[in-house]
Amino acid sequence: MRTPVVAANWKMHKTQTEARQFLADFLPRARDLAGVEIVICPPFTALAAVAEGLKGSQVGLGAQNMSDQPSGAFTGEVSGAMLVDAGCKYVILGHSERRRLFGESDQVVGAKVRAALEHNLTPILCIGETLEEQQAGQADAVNRRQLLAGLEGLTAEQVAGLIIAYEPVWAIGTGKNCDPGDAQARIAAVRAVVAETFGADAAARVRIQYGGSVKPANMASYMAQPDIDGALVGGASLDPASFAAICEAAR
Ligand code: PGA
Repeated sequence: MRTPVVAANWKMHKTQTEARQFLADFLPRARDLAGVEIVICPPFTALAAVAEGLKGSQVGLGAQNMSDQPSGAFTGEVSGAMLVDAGCKYVILGHSERRRLFGESDQVVGAKVRAALEHNLTPILCIGETLEEQQAGQADAVNRRQLLAGLEGLTAEQVAGLIIAYEPVWAIGTGKNCDPGDAQARIAAVRAVVAETFGADAAARVRIQYGGSVKPANMASYMAQPDIDGALVGGASLDPASFAAICEAAR
């Protein structure tokens, strides 16, 4: 049995004060959520405040990006060792906003995944097709390409332990969430690529989230799908009550 994992991607939202206010409201609601792995990914500047606030709770801390380099003259970048030092256990990598707005290639994302694993951070590797690619019938092919580049050079054991997030770009922040049956079909295809490349055991163990306009009202319909193991949540994770309701639906 795969434990469902629900991750909050706060993107460029929340100061330290706002992050503390979120936790004060969210953590009491999350107390009874045994059986779901919960992760909060604040911006870098709020990592320390959230790490402090999460002490003694079961909720994990993640970052939204990291450098593929260990240290050096890389102005504006943050290394894996720095994330570990800040209390992170997870890191979102290859989010479509990083790929589209900041030019991250499939190969760069793969290098980041390898660097994260060197620091024992659990990557949340994001993949997903654009609207044009979906309309051209290329969704599975795009996912395969992004997935294989993202997992390049890994062992089956490493793949089994990471998290993949299937996020169709057209569903992110649009309110147009993917039909749950379609998400299941895409994610089953992703799992089949893992099986073909890394073996049946890795495919059975790797957790694959759906992401893109997940809300309390639609979360259960994703969880009802056999291959969907949780969600990566943007907008609806900013509100403590709505994120708690999504976590509850994952149970
Ligand atoms: P959304 O974002 O939930 O606001 O659609 C999801 C994401 O970008 O991870």
